Amino acid sequence: MEKIEELVKQMTLEEKAGMCSGRDFWHLKGVERLGIPSIMVADGPHGLRKQDQSADHLGINDSIKAVCFPSAAGLAASFDKGLLRRVGETLGEECQAENVAVLLGPAINIKRSPLCGRNFEYMSEDPFVSSKLAAAYIDGLQSRKVGASLKHFAVNNQEKRRSTVSSQVSERALRELYLASFEGAVKEAKPWTVMCSYNRINGEYASESHWLLTEILRDEWGFDGFLVTDWSACNERVKGLLAGQDLEMPDSGGANDRLIVEAVQNGTLKEEILDQAVMRILDVIFRYADHRDAVAEFDRQKHHEIAREAACQSMVLLKNDKTAKGKKTLPLKKGGKYAFIGCFAKNPRYQGGGSSHINSYKVSNALESCGAYAEITFAEGFQTAQDQIDKEMLEEAVKAARESDAAVIFAGLPESIESEAYDREHMGLPKCQNVLIREVAAVQPNTVVVLHNGSPVEMPWEDQVPAILESYLAGEAVGEAQAALLFGEENPCGRLAETFPLRVQDNPAWLDFGGNKDVVHYGEGIFVGYRYYDTKEMPVLFPFGHGLSYTEFAYDNLRLSRECLCGEEQLEIRFRVRNTGERAGREAPQVYLHKKNTGISRPWQELKGFEKVGLAAGEEAEVVLQLDRRSFSYYDEQMQDWCVEPGEYEILIGASSRDIRLRGSVMRTDSLSDKWVCHRNTTLGEIMKRPAAKEAYRQFLKEETGRLPFEGLSAAGQLGEGMKKMAEAILSDSPLRSLRSFYKGKVDDVFIERLIDRINHNMDN
Ligand code: BGC
Repeated sequence: MEKIEELVKQMTLEEKAGMCSGRDFWHLKGVERLGIPSIMVADGPHGLRKQDQSADHLGINDSIKAVCFPSAAGLAASFDKGLLRRVGETLGEECQAENVAVLLGPAINIKRSPLCGRNFEYMSEDPFVSSKLAAAYIDGLQSRKVGASLKHFAVNNQEKRRSTVSSQVSERALRELYLASFEGAVKEAKPWTVMCSYNRINGEYASESHWLLTEILRDEWGFDGFLVTDWSACNERVKGLLAGQDLEMPDSGGANDRLIVEAVQNGTLKEEILDQAVMRILDVIFRYADHRDAVAEFDRQKHHEIAREAACQSMVLLKNDKTAKGKKTLPLKKGGKYAFIGCFAKNPRYQGGGSSHINSYKVSNALESCGAYAEITFAEGFQTAQDQIDKEMLEEAVKAARESDAAVIFAGLPESIESEAYDREHMGLPKCQNVLIREVAAVQPNTVVVLHNGSPVEMPWEDQVPAILESYLAGEAVGEAQAALLFGEENPCGRLAETFPLRVQDNPAWLDFGGNKDVVHYGEGIFVGYRYYDTKEMPVLFPFGHGLSYTEFAYDNLRLSRECLCGEEQLEIRFRVRNTGERAGREAPQVYLHKKNTGISRPWQELKGFEKVGLAAGEEAEVVLQLDRRSFSYYDEQMQDWCVEPGEYEILIGASSRDIRLRGSVMRTDSLSDKWVCHRNTTLGEIMKRPAAKEAYRQFLKEETGRLPFEGLSAAGQLGEGMKKMAEAILSDSPLRSLRSFYKGKVDDVFIERLIDRINHNMDN
């Protein structure tokens, strides 16, 4: 830091202002006379999109040849921190070899609706999953001395009007979902940079929010890197700088640098604030420059193998019923005769459109990759350019299916339906594909559907096909991975990090997704994804956490380290998972928490832990996970803090949110009094919940009036059960000030103030 402070002292005001914006689309400025190098940043997140000339941020122009890994939706479905770390490390090596100091990713906005055009690039509907997996990726990347840029901070959950829309969202939903996704990753992995989003949050631009960029990100979470704008997300430069926005990308042709200089000169911006931003930028520049690995290799073939492994672990076997012969449909028997239908078998959709678009080193397809295993007839089946049924193609596909042992349909979303910059209009596959699947399934009972899509699709034909493999957008090794999984060389182990609803209308954000002009209300609050579907006990197509394997797993022996806990005490959870099938496989056990008899509005259950375990046939392993105070907390808007409801919690261990295998229970004995302060509108019910407050209240009223409100009536049994319940309810919801009418004449405001003092005093002691 000393070196950096020294450098800043030697910089002119103009140099400092200039440092706070890019030299061009991808480079930061350097200052040659002071030995400050210009570093390069590049997209991200599932491959290296390094552009030399013709820069753009929408993936329009070409970049260097690089390895395309599965996009985040798929990577997250691996539920595997080790894998995410490895992908991060691999990308770090590529960046070192290509002299890229910061890779722009990972992206971890919450999947509020399946319609967000950019869901393929995001990880999950659940903040715990996305923050844990993002932390692993960042850890891997930064272990190679290349910075991550965690994006898009925050609440950027739709593409429509992304530069101007305001996400109107409650503080609780912000804290529990939209910010939590970033919080865990920032605290755990300390990304070198965070990228703020385009949109506004409750009216204020993310890029100008002091609350978001300084109070929360830096002061609360301890972020110590630089904050960069999303490309062209800067609204008013000086306002942004004051809020905590350090670097504007790309550049404004010098216009905004001049505004900074003027603001310092006319006193509206303290030079210390500018200095601080420059120091943060320099700090990251030297984190990279001082550890430059100039001889790093970038072995594309080796990295392609890692992309293959990642693709295998990202694909999710959604369904695998038995055929008429009593055997599971998948894996396919080697040496059989199969119809491969659909153009994605030849030209797979394997990555998303927009700024993450990779100029792939090489792309494999299922048709070629499966050639060695079986006799395959190919039929194009449908076109991607337009959603039109082609009769000839359809007939050819049906014929091929009829004449084969099984049909495998390679379906999915064409790129024009799903991309950065716009949202999906519906959740369906193109109609022509739905028709094709139905017609093929009608003649071939052994029909497998292999999907290529970045986010859920409706499957009106789900009950007509025995097997479905979700490939997501699996990266350049897609074909090899599909071949390995379809023919059983590898065992599927992906699990959905998002719910697949039956229909888009079931999604809780359906009513207001997209919003009205520049305002979108997050009416569903904290009930996003399974938090909504499970609380409402709604049928879904495939639940959160779901995914099948070619083997089976059994769970047993759940043990909790305590029966009761409070405060910062940790709960250790142990259980056993056993591979009861005949081949090796990987399972992703999940820990959910359910509050019994909750007194607040909260989801039925929430994910608080997960693990990925690889087991040989017959092998078993013990899974050990910890829950801390935060795992049990909800965000209380009145207290403006994380609070724990005392009482019983169920610990649910499951293979998905709807497949709970083990149950245990634990009592939280925390008192409710943390930070609680009694005032004239505190209800009697709130007082009764806190022993110290209750004691003070009762004593004071007895001393001063000789009785408690309603005491005489209920004790004398003059009220029927219904009336008694009503009286109790009224009493419980009555604010302290209403004692004036319960004790007519005897209680006035002075009396109430004295009572409040007594209660608060008792709480302090
Ligand atoms: C995207 C970012 C990306 C940036 C640079 C923007 O359009 O939102 O995710 O990193 O461009 O390409």
